[in-house]
Amino acid sequence: MSTQKPTPIKQGANAGDRPRRSNADLIAARNRHFLPTALLYHKEPLQLVKAQGEYVWDADGRRYLDAIGGIICISAGHNHPTIKAKLIQMLADDEIQHTSLLYLSEYPVALAEALIEEAPEGMDRASFTNSGSEANELAMMTARQATGETIIVNLRHGYHGGTASTLAQCGHHTWRFRAQPTASTTSAMEPYCYRCPFNKKPESCSFECAQNVETTIQTTTHGKIAGMIVEPVMGVGGFIDPPKEYFDLVTEIVHNYGGKYISDEVQTGVGRCGEEFFLTKELEIDADMVTLAKGFGNGAAIGAVVMKTEDAEALRGKLYFNTFGGDPLQTAQAKATMDVIKEENLIENARDMGARLKDGMKQLMKDHALIGDVRGRGLLLGMELVKDRKTKEHAPQEAIAFMDKCKEKGLLLGKGGLFGNVIRVAPSMTINAEQIDAMLATMGEAMHELARG
Ligand SMILES: Cc1ncc(COP(=O)(O)O)c(C=O)c1O
Repeated sequence: MSTQKPTPIKQGANAGDRPRRSNADLIAARNRHFLPTALLYHKEPLQLVKAQGEYVWDADGRRYLDAIGGIICISAGHNHPTIKAKLIQMLADDEIQHTSLLYLSEYPVALAEALIEEAPEGMDRASFTNSGSEANELAMMTARQATGETIIVNLRHGYHGGTASTLAQCGHHTWRFRAQPTASTTSAMEPYCYRCPFNKKPESCSFECAQNVETTIQTTTHGKIAGMIVEPVMGVGGFIDPPKEYFDLVTEIVHNYGGKYISDEVQTGVGRCGEEFFLTKELEIDADMVTLAKGFGNGAAIGAVVMKTEDAEALRGKLYFNTFGGDPLQTAQAKATMDVIKEENLIENARDMGARLKDGMKQLMKDHALIGDVRGRGLLLGMELVKDRKTKEHAPQEAIAFMDKCKEKGLLLGKGGLFGNVIRVAPSMTINAEQIDAMLATMGEAMHELARG
């Protein structure tokens, strides 16, 4: 136990006026007790204490427009009244908070039914986990069990979670640990159009990146694979969004070599990209399994895998147990989130507001050479910052400064990319036009200030 006493408690504002420790205290305590791997956004980190809709408040009562939602977890707005009422009622009624799937409960069943209704054709089985990493673990394990093969192909710049076997599929040196076991994995080139690893331009491109999946299988495996795991938009990689044709070619290759295609929709799912609940469906990706998490529970710790019966059947005779996966509260929150997304037409809103935001970001790009690329789908949008548009030298310090300036002006953004130079913008799918315009105005002011040095 620490012998250091915290300094006097500071009065918080706007969140029940609960007494709170100062930011300095919390940082010191984190430094004493957390692992040194825990990151903090911002030079002066924020203590967020209250949230409503598209906004969050810090301990001093300052309001921010939240355009990153924790980390892309808020799909229906913070503390949505319907979702909140559902949870409050469950607690007030002493509904059972925890029971594993060893007992019957309405909630996980209702969620599975709702999910299957949205799932790509042929997928009629669902399983719930506590995180995206676990969902991907289960999908990869299923692919291996179904095929009898071990090798899973991944993409450079991809990210699929922080557990041992998902990190083994990670395409970022920053996230991998020394002596990270990577047996039974192999990596294909990234479909990163802005920085094409084959030096192609859209007019000269013959989908060399897709062909590289086949070359990778032919040259680094025994000719058969268990599967491939791919994000339809590479989130941690900086919202790299390959065209639809890429997926047509790659799914065919994966299937030709006997593998299962896992579409990792932990960031892209629940309609954030506009058009469909699953981006896999919108892009007509011929996937065998799809994983979800983040915005699925609007903040609840829940992930999911949906798959085809034939693959689920490969697991028959084995036991898979996840103590908390499928808990009543988690699954009720995810189901209530799905209902709100449907009832409030949030997917259409993500499409329309996403288009407005992307247009505005492209406009900013015309005025600011620091923005080398604007990309993404729906409300999953990125701006890649570069020191020079010709050399495309990464601008990670500028990304930090830009985020800090936006924060000072009341706007929270995220960042990603292998070199930390991609600004990530992913507000709640409830966002409206006025808020989008306010975000763009703030980003424009921050860009101007950065340009003036
Ligand atoms: C695409 C993708 N897959 C999987 C994960 C892992 O999810 P979790 O952090 O919930 O384990 C992440 C997390 O950022 C992700 O972005």
